[in-house]
Amino acid sequence: DKAADLQLRPPIITVMGHVDHGKTTLLDVIRQSRVAESEAGGITQHIGAYQVFINGKKITFIDTPGHEAFTAMRARGAQVTDITILVVAADDGVMPQTIEAINHAKAADIPIIIAINKIDKPNAQPDRVKQELTEHGLVPEDWGGDTICVPISALKEENINELLEMVLLVAEMEEIKANPNRYAEGIVIESELDKGRGPVATLLVKNGTMRIGDALLAGPVSGRVRAMIDDKGERINEAPPATPVEILGFSDVPAAGEFVEVLPDEKEARAVAEERKQALHQQDIQNESR
Ligand code: GTP
Ligand code: NA
Ligand code: MG
Repeated sequence: DKAADLQLRPPIITVMGHVDHGKTTLLDVIRQSRVAESEAGGITQHIGAYQVFINGKKITFIDTPGHEAFTAMRARGAQVTDITILVVAADDGVMPQTIEAINHAKAADIPIIIAINKIDKPNAQPDRVKQELTEHGLVPEDWGGDTICVPISALKEENINELLEMVLLVAEMEEIKANPNRYAEGIVIESELDKGRGPVATLLVKNGTMRIGDALLAGPVSGRVRAMIDDKGERINEAPPATPVEILGFSDVPAAGEFVEVLPDEKEARAVAEERKQALHQQDIQNESR
């Protein structure tokens, strides 16, 4: 894409952190308060990603970071996230999955915002968390470093606005852009075979705009966009960059984490998918004969 074709798109945020540090509680709080505020049609559990408006700006959250899709994406070197919110419980501190998330974000060069959670607890030790983060190379701003740390209580809904303002601030600095006027490309974040509807895949459109009728290619699977459903359960006709969208029309179930592209022609998509399928089949035969 030429620079002139690029436009700002909503940032895509994942929430990571150790088991039970409060990721889901935080995501639920953000979704509930914000979806209601934007009167976008009530709370939805429809798909594993959602968009909310914060101060009039759209943000996309993905609530499945523990999902197999993320493992698959990493293995492929695909990156779906722009910013990571790393939740660290103030009573528990930096734990193995915290370190894993730090390492992943660093390796992928993704900005990290720390949410020091559970500050409502009597045994909360936010300074200990900051000390531990420092030991892992993340020096908090108020300690002279450049890591944004926001103390929050997801449970008591304390300081959530401050955290979200930091997300917007970092997003603005990053100048996250895409070209809405091109064929879409994205990533499968969830997929399944639905008894009534056939193969269903939730995609995150990263670039371009996806439209009804588009020819799809996702690994060894092709298709044509028959219907698109947004995070509110509404049917939509086009999905611009950073939109999470459920797609009907794949000929088979594409794997979570698979890269998705739109091709000009459905026949071509089918032919490429068929080639890939045969290549995979050949690989299987070779592996079996070893
Ligand atoms: P996994 O998905 O299992 O990794 O856990 P999680 O990180 O999503 O944590 P979850 O949101 O499920 O919270 C775990 C527990 O911590 C639940 O009992 C929450 O109610 C509690 N919890 C979450 N946030 C807070 C908080 O700010 N304060 C207190 N006191 N408890 C919290
Ligand atoms: Na939990
Ligand atoms: Mg959870």
